[in-house]
Amino acid sequence: MGILQDKQILLIVSGGIAAYKALELIRLLRSAGAEVRCVLTEGGAHFVTPLSLSALSEHKVYTDLWSLTDEAEMGHIRLSREADLIVVAPASADLIAKMANGFANDLASTVLLASDKPILIAPAMNPQMWNNPATQANIGVLRARGVRQIGPNAGDMACGETGWGRMSEPAEILEAIEAALGPKKLAGLKALVTSGPTFEAIDPVRFIGNRSSGKQGHAIAAALQEAGALVTLITGPVALPDPAGVKTVHIESAAEMLAACEKALPADIAVFAAAVSDWRAAKPQTKKIKKSGGKTAPEINLTENPDILRTIAGLKKGRPRLVIGFAAETDDLEKNAKAKLKSKGCDWIVANAVGPDAKGREKAFGADENHVTLFTRSASEEWPRASKQAIAAKLVERITQEFGRHDTSQKRRPGKRQ
Ligand code: CTP
Repeated sequence: MGILQDKQILLIVSGGIAAYKALELIRLLRSAGAEVRCVLTEGGAHFVTPLSLSALSEHKVYTDLWSLTDEAEMGHIRLSREADLIVVAPASADLIAKMANGFANDLASTVLLASDKPILIAPAMNPQMWNNPATQANIGVLRARGVRQIGPNAGDMACGETGWGRMSEPAEILEAIEAALGPKKLAGLKALVTSGPTFEAIDPVRFIGNRSSGKQGHAIAAALQEAGALVTLITGPVALPDPAGVKTVHIESAAEMLAACEKALPADIAVFAAAVSDWRAAKPQTKKIKKSGGKTAPEINLTENPDILRTIAGLKKGRPRLVIGFAAETDDLEKNAKAKLKSKGCDWIVANAVGPDAKGREKAFGADENHVTLFTRSASEEWPRASKQAIAAKLVERITQEFGRHDTSQKRRPGKRQ
């Protein structure tokens, strides 16, 4: 019996040209054995008709919060409570904003606010609307509350523009639904993730830092948590909310990050996505360094920080079974990544190119997308450029395969050839 057999899916279709893909999604869900009920927003009804949704789902379609008949028959509270999962596809910028801010002024937003069920959104909108800081802030709020997200993808849009905003394909959404409702493949495993930059004090007001946003590490922590792992996220200073359901430890310096990592052990999986400062001031000043009127500039003596990844990967006792490092490289990606895999003693390296692209925009640090190559000890695979969430999901899928391939009850290292 498939994962979706007899599962109840409440599909909310909001306004956007991608609404036509909801029809195919209903077909796929029904073929997988799920029961689908649909809520159609006023905007959504401009793109698909209640009749098409109803014909495919073989259920009445709900559109009106104020319908006396609907309330008497089903009621908006029951509609949300009877579902195993609520899927919003397409999720428009407007509905995402309503969800993030707790609006309840139509049936879709009211059902979402009244729900105690897991929610999966498949955003679809014009690239400018997607990139708008308002939408990104709303998405951040939803993610931090544990709302699952699939897509959007990049590509040509119906509006004639190209960029991020295309709704994921129905087959991809189906996979995400199965993942949300399926067995938690990493249940019972403990994971440790580092994320963000470290700040190394020069004096009480100044520090050495870097441009890491923490987006990739936070996305990995959230994806591991969704897969059922018990996750501790150790993060440097970032402007991101703590991921829902993840124990998050906030630190500033590399020394604090190492201490927090050691405290979080034992762990089965360790992912080192943080951009740890390689150096720190040898003697941070206790008082703010003053200018000398142009006579001399202060000299800051640097000393090397501990290598957290190498330390944890090299543990004789209590080494996590799968240790994954990152490599941020401006040149010679493959050569440097392979050298790091060896020198750090980790099982896998996720290598990404950093620095400005042809248009002068930073490729990875702070960006929403990433283009990575995964190096294991015996092979490498380049993944297509994708959102950091999609990269995180893929990495977790690979971790899941690795743990599935080996007997997790044995103290063996999945990354090592046995
Ligand atoms: N790392 C770490 N502790 C450090 C430095 C790096 O744990 N003190 C980890 C990072 O989290 C990442 C990996 O090591 O997983 C590689 O980081 P990167 O900055 O690419 O490499 P470095 O070791 O700093 O080497 P270099 O800066 O010379 O490329």
